[in-house]
Amino acid sequence: MTASVGSLPRCLSRPSQTSDPWGRYYTSPLVSRSLIDGIEAPQPKLLLELGSGSGSLSSAAANRWQDAKLVTVDVDCRAPRRLDASDTTPRLKHTHFVHDVLDEALSDRIGLKLGTVDVAVCNPPYIRPRWRSDFGKILEDAGLSGALLSLFDAGADLLFLAQNLRLLRNNGKLGLILPDGLVTAERFSRVRQTLLRQHFVQQVVQLPRGVFKGTEAQTYLAVLTKSAGETGEVSLKQMGTDGRLSAAIHVGQDAAVKRLDYAFHAASQVSAHRSCESPLPTSFRQVLTAVVRGSICSSAIPSFPKPVFHLGDFAKPMGEQAVRIVPRRFALDARTAQRVAHDARLAVPGDILVARVGRSLADQVALVVHGPCVISDCIFALRAADDHREKLYRFLESEMGRLALGSAAHGVAARFMSKSNLFDIHF
Ligand SMILES: C[S@@+](CC[C@H](N)C(=O)[O-])C[C@H]1O[C@@H](n2cnc3c(N)ncnc32)[C@H](O)[C@@H]1O
Repeated sequence: MTASVGSLPRCLSRPSQTSDPWGRYYTSPLVSRSLIDGIEAPQPKLLLELGSGSGSLSSAAANRWQDAKLVTVDVDCRAPRRLDASDTTPRLKHTHFVHDVLDEALSDRIGLKLGTVDVAVCNPPYIRPRWRSDFGKILEDAGLSGALLSLFDAGADLLFLAQNLRLLRNNGKLGLILPDGLVTAERFSRVRQTLLRQHFVQQVVQLPRGVFKGTEAQTYLAVLTKSAGETGEVSLKQMGTDGRLSAAIHVGQDAAVKRLDYAFHAASQVSAHRSCESPLPTSFRQVLTAVVRGSICSSAIPSFPKPVFHLGDFAKPMGEQAVRIVPRRFALDARTAQRVAHDARLAVPGDILVARVGRSLADQVALVVHGPCVISDCIFALRAADDHREKLYRFLESEMGRLALGSAAHGVAARFMSKSNLFDIHF
């Protein structure tokens, strides 16, 4: 085993989504084994792990491919340089480097030629490093620079992915742990499209929340084969808390560009199946005549002259048969409503209110009955024609509705839902 000490990256000054400045959240042996088991590679000669941390992924890989040479890299000089000592497999061919993975010249620093690695495994840090010109080159080499609206959108997760792609050989395998953004956010749909067109993305497994100690982030396992032709279909699965995988559902490339999470596609497939039995409209886009987003931000609520309906004003769920009504104290008479409408957006009787942000947004539903009311910018008012309103409300109060709202939302600490996420819900 050898170790070389390279330069540390410059300070990470942009705000991070996690509380650890290097995004050190370590993979459990259960998840590591599942990722390694999902990689079809009979006898790889060269294995790589960038951002190796505690070495959980490398240990699982080294146990499976005992004759391979293993190279690991981490910037944290306290990260172990040897694999788990309790593991008895001899690993004479392990080399660890303390170095910045986001160095454009990484391949020279660690003595690996670009395009030579057989299998790479990686759980990248979910942080935003301060932008450097190296990053543009890394993204460009990996064919990803044109996939971003702005290069500054690239977080360490995407940069690590790109660096892995540079080092992998054609037909080499990459097993990755990915954050929610790259898998579901609209702003990364061109990244997904580029990856799906250039490589064969074999499968994406949605992990249970809380699988990494210290964070509730939604994460996924993904396996791809570099430059192995376009992806026609991706297999999507979900892992239970006991580590068991669900049966796969398969989605075509266009659907996978939109999102790559099991929960979203499983819910759409259930409702597509139902719609074969029912002639009624089944997507929110078809039944909503308007979606009004409130305009009063939370800091302006106390000084606003009228009560503003906000996240804390939703009643707790009371069962699928109950109707949660916006309390009378929020109702404005017609004259006041006309006046207030100059300064704020109003929901009107018949509108169904849902939360747009927050960890428990899937549970927050209320019907406007007593009169127009002012809503905060964390609330959407859904307006539907009379004949669809009841069906829509019942769906939102049901377990299926909760699942659909939960999977439509994304984000880690602050979950949020856009209008287009909402329109895509099927029921
Ligand atoms: C999410 S942890 C994953 C650790 C390990 N691979 C695992 O799965 O348990 C990310 C790792 O990347 C390392 N890291 C963060 N920024 C890095 C950089 N610029 N260069 C190299 N390693 C980095 C952290 O020290 C940490 O060990």
